[in-house]
Amino acid sequence: MDWYVADLGLAALGRREITLAEHEMPGLMVMRQRYAEAQPLRGARIAGSLHMTVQTAVLIETLVALGAEVRWASCNIFSTQDHAAAAVVVGPDGTADDPGGVPVFAWKGETLAEYWWCTEQIFRFDQPPTMIVDDGGDATLFLHQGIAAQRAGAAPALDDSASDEQRALAQRVARAAGLVAEGASPVAAGLPEAGAPLDFLALLASLQGVSEETTTGVRRLRAMATAGELLLPAIDVNGSVTKSKFDNTYGCRHSLIDGLNRATDTLMGGKVAVVCGYGDVGKGCCEALRGQGARVVVTEIDPICALQAAMDGYEVRTLDEVIGQADFVITATGCCGVLTAEQMARLKHQAVVGNIGHFDDEIDMAGLARWPGVVKEPLKPQVDAWRYGDGHVILVLSEGRLLNLGNATGHPSFVMSTSFTNQVLAQLELFTRAGDYPVGVHVLPKRMDEEVARFHLPALNVSLTRLTPEQAAYLGVPMEGPYKPDDYRY
Ligand code: NAD
Ligand code: ADE
Repeated sequence: MDWYVADLGLAALGRREITLAEHEMPGLMVMRQRYAEAQPLRGARIAGSLHMTVQTAVLIETLVALGAEVRWASCNIFSTQDHAAAAVVVGPDGTADDPGGVPVFAWKGETLAEYWWCTEQIFRFDQPPTMIVDDGGDATLFLHQGIAAQRAGAAPALDDSASDEQRALAQRVARAAGLVAEGASPVAAGLPEAGAPLDFLALLASLQGVSEETTTGVRRLRAMATAGELLLPAIDVNGSVTKSKFDNTYGCRHSLIDGLNRATDTLMGGKVAVVCGYGDVGKGCCEALRGQGARVVVTEIDPICALQAAMDGYEVRTLDEVIGQADFVITATGCCGVLTAEQMARLKHQAVVGNIGHFDDEIDMAGLARWPGVVKEPLKPQVDAWRYGDGHVILVLSEGRLLNLGNATGHPSFVMSTSFTNQVLAQLELFTRAGDYPVGVHVLPKRMDEEVARFHLPALNVSLTRLTPEQAAYLGVPMEGPYKPDDYRY
């Protein structure tokens, strides 16, 4: 088995945490019980690109328990929990000397070149993969860029404005496709290069679809579909209510302040915390900060979300109006250029800056690095002080990448169980009912969404009221659900 993780010696710790997590992930455990015998994923080969955490370990081992062969990488350079990665490689019954688990290619603190090398490895099964699990769309992007390069017989073209990220991706795609990348030097020095090029067209022929985890990844998929560029069926897992209204909100309510505390331990009570974006993630962040006694200010572009924030009791301002008073600025938009270098220069001494949106383009890190006189002073991994010429500093978390996974351990198991049960259902749909999902972006049926919620009720000792036949007829819904029309907003 090939794999690349930080230290297999961490596997025992990882396994102990995985065992605790399993108890907190009832949805995944129901999937295992329901399908262990039938093995509906037998023959499936799943290429996963999603934060390599303890919770993801339980997802991976659930897919394996249902019969799938799996290869995995993280979807972020800082989010891997090395003990979880090690435990997945070793497997429940293996040893560090004789690993028997799943090939994982992930460690905390990858370079961009290493990140894309890891992404390539998840596609390198003996037979091409049948599905992708993606979080943010990078595996899907790698596939589409590879197909384009192979069809063109040329490496992806880059102009001078290309970012380091785009450069690292293009170089990796070129290498993987057996093409010569422009200006390519050893792109992931020290890591083994596979001999044979990846046949991206064979990958496409074999792939039955992708299930996408997050808001930003779904936005990318929809943009590709609109442009006529999407080449495979996709299930929008974020579109399940039991994903976006739980993980994005309650998950971030937990993991935002976990990240802030582990990074800086700065008191939040009484301080001014600005949250950019009052969508599903922003709502959870604001609630958590308010719970700590912070004076929370929201920025929004959407009048509906701005009005929601105001009705929930938050001040709503533009960032420029409040930047000089902010003790914390948290971006949660999925947009780009939200916090500019010019605004960061106006922050108070020791203000904390962090992003919880999927990508690092919400905060202008490149602009900060170019700011006259500014110097980066690393405090500890994933926490940097940036000192300005006048001596004042700001504290930037995880280099502008999502702080709840870079500075802490992401969402807790219970909420990830709701997300990942949707992931398992989506993979089952793509594998066993491929004909129902043509190329395009789909959501799971509402009856499945309600079922995912149902799996999690007993653990919280919830007593659900049952409709009588008369009440069901009165409401015009089946007694067993679904209880809401598809466009109900929750
Ligand atoms: P959303 O669309 O529900 O919310 C984003 C909000 O930001 C919207 O209300 C939008 O109007 C607002 N917005 C957009 N541009 C803005 C700007 N320039 N200034 C102020 N507000 C702006 O999306 P979401 O589900 O809340 O996700 C937000 C981001 O977080 C996405 O990138 C998503 O992928 C990511 N995410 C991260 C985690 C995590 O664990 N870190 C979990 C779930 C989602
Ligand atoms: N996204 C947010 N938290 C996560 C976690 N704990 N595991 C995987 N993905 C996540």
